[in-house]
Amino acid sequence: MESALDFHTAKALLEWQIEFGVTEAIGDGPVNRYEVPDKPAKPTPAPAPTTEPAAASSASAGASPVAEARAAAGAAADLTALRAAMEAFEHCELKRGARNLVFADGNPSARVMIIGEAPGRDEDREGRPFVGRAGQLLDKMLAAISLSRCAEAPERAVYITNVLPWRPPQNRDPKPDEIAMLLPFVERHVALVKPQVVVLMGNISCQAGLGRRGITRLRGAWTEAYGTPCLPMFHPAYLLRSPGAKREAWADLLELQARLRGGA
Ligand code: URA
Repeated sequence: MESALDFHTAKALLEWQIEFGVTEAIGDGPVNRYEVPDKPAKPTPAPAPTTEPAAASSASAGASPVAEARAAAGAAADLTALRAAMEAFEHCELKRGARNLVFADGNPSARVMIIGEAPGRDEDREGRPFVGRAGQLLDKMLAAISLSRCAEAPERAVYITNVLPWRPPQNRDPKPDEIAMLLPFVERHVALVKPQVVVLMGNISCQAGLGRRGITRLRGAWTEAYGTPCLPMFHPAYLLRSPGAKREAWADLLELQARLRGGA
């Protein structure tokens, strides 16, 4: 039967009921527990073990999701293949609750690659990163230093992606195992785009790229991630909540501009 609930909402409702002490799932119709069945029900035979043909056992049976992600990402020769590999990746539960894979936006020839956190509701709907309120602020920030995701010239362009390509339910923070599982795709993404600099937007992006959080201390100081110079910055969603931090964000944008002008 088709349900009006999405996967994550249905799961959250079930968990809520269990917390309240529900121990049994009941059917739509009443059950007469005093009724004696005519014959005892036959035990259901155990299903015959299925042997997977060797050729079908993709990245060797029992390989961890991270190993499978690494193999799939490593085999992608270009961005189209990487996108297809991510579409085909079945190990991340987030995919089941998402409407779309949010792969990337902007110009892959750009010198600047921006890595955000994960799609929100608007991004999930459109299948493009940073299209909601935070994305609109990001576009304004970039325009202030003459960069745009729509620019054709690589020196004015940006390319934008996220650590996670699927929306986490209720916009919760990505879990460490989700980040670890999808990191091989991010690494391959950067290797294929070969940007001159990477901007790590917010704590989750720092966690994935640098292995640590603490954006207030990390922001504005050049470091290296994915074998590329990178600049951690405040996430635009944080700037919407804390407009006072725009001052630091502006300083970081100028830092980025100076680096690009210097042709580093
Ligand atoms: N926040 C992100 O980090 N990425 C998006 O795509 C949207 C909001």
